[in-house]
Amino acid sequence: MKNFRVAVLANLKKNAPHFEGMSEDQWDDLDSESTVLAIRDAIRSAGHEAEFLEADDTIMDTVRDYKPDICFNIAESHFGDSREAQIPAILEKLQIPYTGSKVLSLALTLDKPMTKRILAWHGLPTPEFQSFERVDEPLEEGMTFPLFVKPSREGTGMGISYESIVHNETELRKQIAFIIRRYKQTALVERFIEGREVTLGMVGNLIGPVARRIPLDENAHRIQAGLHFLPPMEVDLKPYLLTDGVYANRLKTALAADLDYLCPAPLDEDMVDELNWLAAAVFRVTGALDCARVDFRLDINDNLKPYILEINPLPGLSPVISDLVIEAAADGIEHAELVNMILNTALSRYGMV
Ligand SMILES: Nc1ncnc2c1ncn2[C@@H]1O[C@H](COP(=O)(O)OP(=O)(O)OP(=O)(O)O)[C@@H](O)[C@H]1O
Ligand SMILES: [Mg+2]
Repeated sequence: MKNFRVAVLANLKKNAPHFEGMSEDQWDDLDSESTVLAIRDAIRSAGHEAEFLEADDTIMDTVRDYKPDICFNIAESHFGDSREAQIPAILEKLQIPYTGSKVLSLALTLDKPMTKRILAWHGLPTPEFQSFERVDEPLEEGMTFPLFVKPSREGTGMGISYESIVHNETELRKQIAFIIRRYKQTALVERFIEGREVTLGMVGNLIGPVARRIPLDENAHRIQAGLHFLPPMEVDLKPYLLTDGVYANRLKTALAADLDYLCPAPLDEDMVDELNWLAAAVFRVTGALDCARVDFRLDINDNLKPYILEINPLPGLSPVISDLVIEAAADGIEHAELVNMILNTALSRYGMV
C-alpha cells in the first residue's frame, strides 16, 4: 500500500462562530476535537501522513499549503442551504480528491423534502409528506394525524422532541411556527410512523446498475455489489416513549451514552436483506459515495414495513457514540479500521491505489 498525505477536513464545535440570538443546539451536528484527532490518528496508524485542517474561511489557503493527495472530508460547514456541499465544491475547484459524496449529492441529501421527492419517484418507501414555507398553508388531503414536524435541513435530531408529534391543527401550527422561527427554513411535515428505530451503515461503492435489483446471490446478503453493509442498529426507545417518543435531539446529545443500542438489531434475515437492499437503493438514487447511513422506522401497525426517513452521507465518526462506529464494532471492525476502509474506498475510486 502506498503512503499518502491526507488532510482531515472538519468543523469543530469549539471553533464555530457565535452570533446573536443563536439557539443552544445551533452547532450540535459539528464535531468534537477528540473525534477529529481519532480520525487523524487512525489514518496515521495506516502509515499515511495526516493533519487536521479546520474547514473555515481560510481553507482554500491552508489546504493548498498542505498539498494533500486526498482529503478526508467530514466538514458540515456553518451556513447556507447546501452547506455540506461547500467544502467539496472548493476541493473540486482546486482539483483535490476527497472522501465521500460529492457536491450534488451532499446538497440534495441535506434537503429532506427534495430527497424524499427523489425517493418517491423511484418508488422507494418514505412517509407521505408536505413542506411548509408558511405557517398557514392548508394541509393537503391524505395528510392525516398524527403527523411529525421537523426542520428540512438539519441533523442530530435538531428541532426534534416529543412536541414534534402533533395530533391536531393547533399542535401542528404551533410546531410549524417553531421550526420556521427557530431554524429559518421550511418545516417538513410527515406522517408519523409509530415503530421501531433502525439505522444501517454502508461502506463502499456500488458496481454496476444493481441498486434497484434484489441481490442475485442469496448467500452474499452482507457484502454485495461493491457495498459492505454493516449490521443494522436499533435504538431501544422504550424507556423514552413517554418523554421523547422518537430519537430526539436530547437523546442524540445529552443522553447518548445512556441509550441501549441493539446491534445487530433483533431482526430476521429477510428483514435485514430488505433493509440492505433499500439502503443500497437510496445510496444509488442519491448518488452517495464511499459511505453513508440510512435511517428507517419500521411501522409497528403495518407488519414492520420499513420507511426510509433519510440518508446521512456524512455520518458521525465519533469513536464513542456514533451510530456508524457502533455498527462497525458489531461487525468486528474497530474505529481505525472503519476510517481506513472509507479512505481506501475513496482512493480506489480515484484510481490512486
Ligand atoms: N415521520 C416520522 N415518524 C416517526 N418518527 C420520525 C419521523 N421522522 C423522524 N422521526 C424521528 O425523529 C428522528 C430524527 O429524524 P431524522 O432522522 O429525519 O433527523 P436528523 O436530525 O437528520 O437525524 P440524524 O441525527 O440522523 O442526522 C428519527 O430518528 C425518528 O425517531
Ligand atoms: Mg436521522
